[in-house]
Amino acid sequence: MNGQLFNNENQLMILFGGTGDLTFRKLLPALYNLQKTDRLPTRFRVLIIGRRPYTSESYHEQMRSWIEGNARFRIDEESYQRFCEKVEYFQMDFNVPDGYGPLRERLNTLDPDRSAQRVYYFAVSPASFVVIAQDLAKAGLATQNPQDLIIIEKPFGDDLQTASEINEVLETVFVPSNIYRIDHYLAKEMVQNVLAIRFANVIFEGIWNRDYIDNIQISAAETVGVETRGNYYDHTGAIKDMVQNHLLQILSLVTMEKPLDESARSIHDAQYAVLAKVRFPQGEELGSSLVVGQYTVARESEENRSYRHEEKVDSQSMTETYAALKLEVDTPRFKDVPIYIRTGKRMHKRSTEIAITFKKSFYHGEQAKNDVLLIKVQPDEGVYFRFNIKKPGQEYSLQSVFMDFCQSCIYENRINTPEAYERLLFAAFAEDSSLFTSWDIAKNNWQFIEDLNREMPRQNVQLYFYESFDDGPVQAREMLERDGREWVEEKVLGDDFQA
Ligand code: BG6
Repeated sequence: MNGQLFNNENQLMILFGGTGDLTFRKLLPALYNLQKTDRLPTRFRVLIIGRRPYTSESYHEQMRSWIEGNARFRIDEESYQRFCEKVEYFQMDFNVPDGYGPLRERLNTLDPDRSAQRVYYFAVSPASFVVIAQDLAKAGLATQNPQDLIIIEKPFGDDLQTASEINEVLETVFVPSNIYRIDHYLAKEMVQNVLAIRFANVIFEGIWNRDYIDNIQISAAETVGVETRGNYYDHTGAIKDMVQNHLLQILSLVTMEKPLDESARSIHDAQYAVLAKVRFPQGEELGSSLVVGQYTVARESEENRSYRHEEKVDSQSMTETYAALKLEVDTPRFKDVPIYIRTGKRMHKRSTEIAITFKKSFYHGEQAKNDVLLIKVQPDEGVYFRFNIKKPGQEYSLQSVFMDFCQSCIYENRINTPEAYERLLFAAFAEDSSLFTSWDIAKNNWQFIEDLNREMPRQNVQLYFYESFDDGPVQAREMLERDGREWVEEKVLGDDFQA
C-alpha cells in the first residue's frame, strides 16, 4: 500500500515505559498518525512494555482516549482497527532481571528468523537506561546487532558524568551509530525551516554574518508550570531542561556554517563546530549577563501555585524556572554579535521565536529602524520581516513596514504538518539520524552547562522571583537595555504585529 519507504519494511518496536506520559501524549498519537497516513513500515508491530496488568485488548481500549486527545487526525474505525492489530501489550517490570527471558521468548515468536529491524525505545527516566540496556544484553538481546536501533530521550543524564556513563553502556550494547538521541525541537517544522530560510535565499545567505546582524534572540516561553514533574524538575531547572538542549540546538542551526551536504553526519559536524565555540561572558560580566528566576504567585490557588508549593518541590527550592543569558559564538562569522536566549515557565504566553535584528541603516539624513526577521516556531508558525520604506507623500521620511507569512494560518498546512514525534519516529524507521542529535553535541553541551554552573556562584548570580503569567524578571529586560537593545516582541514591533 505504502510502497517502499524503508530499507527494511519489517520492523518491531519495543517500547519501554508503555504506560508513561510520553507514550500516552506523544508516541501512540504519533504512531497512529503514521498509520493513518500509510507511513508505517509494511510489517510493523510494537510491543508495549509496562508494569500495569493490561491485556492487549484492555490496553487498546485505554489507548483510544490518548489518541483521541492528542493525535492530529480524528480516529476512524478502520485505521484504528488496523493500528490495534499492530499493538501488543507485554507486562513486565524492567527493573526485574527475570523478566528479560520471557521478553526474549516473545520477541523470538514475533520475529522467529530475526529478520525484523528491532527498534528499542526507552521512554523512561535516564536513570533506568543503563539497567535496561545491560539486562537486554544479558538476555542476549541487542548486543551490537547491526539491525537494532535504540531511541532515547533527552536529557540523556543529569550532568556530564552521568551522561557519559550512560553513553558508555549504550555504546557497548548497541552499535554507536544506531543510537538515536531525541531533541524534539529539532523536528519542529520551523526549526527545520531555519536552514531553508538561511540557505535557500540569497538575500539572507549573503547578510547572515557579523557585518549585517546586530543581535540574535532565541526565546522559548511556556505558560505551563512544572505540572506533575516536580521531582525531576527540582534537581534540573530551566538551564538543564531547556538551554542545554533545545535552545543550544536552535542556536547552532542559526549560527553554523553551511553543511557540506545534507547528510546527518555533515549537519551534526557543522552544528558541533559552532557549539564548541559558544561562550558565556567571563568574570564579573556574567553576573549581569545571566538572569535566573523562579515563579511565584501573589495569591495561591489549586491551579496556580508558586513554584515552591508545587508537588514534589522543595519548599526552600532555589531551582530556576526562568533563565535569560547573553552568549557569543567565537567564529569569524559571528564574533562579537550578542546572542540573547531566554526561557521560562508560567510566562504570560506560550511562544517560541527566533529574532534576527539587522544593523541600522542611515539614509537621507535619517536613522532607519533595524530590519527584523522573526521566525515564529510555535504556537503559530511563520516568518515575519520588518523593513523600511519611504512614507507616502511630499515630505521625505521613512516608515517601518512588515511582511508577515503565517504558515499555520493555512488549514492544509496545519493538517499536513506532522508533529515532531511523528517526524522523528518516521525518520528512525527510515534510519535517518539527521533530526536527532549526536553524542559529541550532547557531551559538548553538558560541558558548557557545567562550566556555567561552576561560575554562577562565583559571580554571585542571584535568583529573582517573578510573578506567574507575567513577563519574567525585570532584570532580563534591563540586561538588554544596558546594551542599548530590547527583546523583540509585540510591544517593540508595534500594533500591527500579530503574535
Ligand atoms: C521538554 C522539557 O524537553 O520540552 C519541558 O523537559 C518543556 O519542561 C518541553 O515543557 C517543551 O516542549 P514543547 O514542544 O511543548 O515546546
